[in-house]
Amino acid sequence: MTSLDTIAGAAKGGTLYGIGVGPGDARYMTLRAAGLVRSVDVIAYFAKAGREGNARRIVAALMNGAIRELKFEYPVTDEIPAAAPAYREAIAAFYADAAAALARELQGGASVGLLAEGDPFFYGSFMHMWRRLEQAFPIEVVPGVTGMSGCWTRANAPITWGDDVLTVMPGTLDEATLTERLKRSDAAVIMKVGRNLAKVRRAVVAAGLIERAIYVERGTMTEERIVPLKDCAASAGPYFAMVLIPGNGRRL
Ligand SMILES: C[S@@+](CC[C@H](N)C(=O)[O-])C[C@H]1O[C@@H](n2cnc3c(N)ncnc32)[C@H](O)[C@@H]1O
Repeated sequence: MTSLDTIAGAAKGGTLYGIGVGPGDARYMTLRAAGLVRSVDVIAYFAKAGREGNARRIVAALMNGAIRELKFEYPVTDEIPAAAPAYREAIAAFYADAAAALARELQGGASVGLLAEGDPFFYGSFMHMWRRLEQAFPIEVVPGVTGMSGCWTRANAPITWGDDVLTVMPGTLDEATLTERLKRSDAAVIMKVGRNLAKVRRAVVAAGLIERAIYVERGTMTEERIVPLKDCAASAGPYFAMVLIPGNGRRL
């Protein structure tokens, strides 16, 4: 065993690990995350139907052929609004089935690593499994570098200075709410921009913040794109896209 393996530690049977794998670049994974990916019996992950899954792609170099995999393919993603009854019903049934599949593995004594892009407790699907399983099984959550942290680092944009208050909001909010929240923020991160890009841009303009706004697509990943939001004319972007408004607070 190398000293890195000793620090990272191994997985225990019957335990569920929520493994934060960071924002995209595999080198931003923690030692604990990398150690668990190599030592669990089963690697589980969520993915859009027919896709590899971003979290699975991030850990690809660490996987050996012996690890069993459980892939949970979403029945719907962002093609239906999350508030629609059809979305809620389909996703609730899907999460119940995924939790039951994880429970069967844990009951059988397997250690299971459920991958989460970024940090598991930050807008993560992992949380829906955690909520269903935490009374019945031991769970360890491994924090990860968040997508926003990866994005502001790659954009070379310090996000909060002095007494700046940072607001994090999903781009799925309605335009009036986005505008109002932005007006009350010193610094902001707008997540889930994808299909909401045009609405988000209008809200940023209405809040008087367009000159400071940065659009980051697939931050830290190989297809990364970083541009001022005012130069980004598209009405929609990919799923992995966010807008950063760096704060203007005290510089000493
Ligand atoms: C369901 S949330 C998951 C957040 C994740 N748990 C985290 O810690 O960042 C997905 C949203 O995070 C944002 N996101 C996460 N990683 C990103 C990245 N590397 N580049 C751009 N946006 C990212 C996007 O706005 C995306 O729609």
